[in-house]
Amino acid sequence: MADDENGGDRRSFITNASRAAMAAGLVGGYGAFAIVAGRFLYPATSDDVMWQFVTESDGIKVGESIRYRGPSGETINITRRSRAGGADDHIALPSTCPHLGCQVRWEEQNKRFFCPCHNGVFDPAGKAIAGPPGEAGQWLPRYELHVENGLLMIAVPPPRFSDADEKGGVIEGDDCVSGPGHDPCLAGRPRRGGSVA
Ligand code: FES
Repeated sequence: MADDENGGDRRSFITNASRAAMAAGLVGGYGAFAIVAGRFLYPATSDDVMWQFVTESDGIKVGESIRYRGPSGETINITRRSRAGGADDHIALPSTCPHLGCQVRWEEQNKRFFCPCHNGVFDPAGKAIAGPPGEAGQWLPRYELHVENGLLMIAVPPPRFSDADEKGGVIEGDDCVSGPGHDPCLAGRPRRGGSVA
């Protein structure tokens, strides 16, 4: 009888331990995915940022958008909307669509950000107004900017690994933006100024 009870206790212990291990594995797996996805879709909090130089404060023309890659790999559209002379002339928004992760681009002629994968449309402040992101009420959350001694600076998450040699910087040329999500180059190769080849 005592052996039966001991055997039952052992089996129940092994079963519970297996379930706990499976749960920990699932939580770990989904947790890692969420962290990776979150780094591209949601800018860091003010406690977890570093200020990086982007360009001179008048380095972007009104109506123009440049692409910037942060030190942790996220890509950001920095768009100039006015010429008052301060950081508020600009808006910095993630280029990764919150729907399924394609690359969002500024369209000066339409005064909107556009995601070609499923016709997602965002207004100049980053609010989704059409397509799947609009239906889901999603936003492109803003990165903080400021102007210091005539230089435009952006607050971005630090490199993912402490020994990484990633500095971030403006994306030059017509290389297609890489990032999470399917077919980020669907609409061709984005160029400085928001036009697409
Ligand atoms: S990935 Fe942008 S609208 Fe679907």
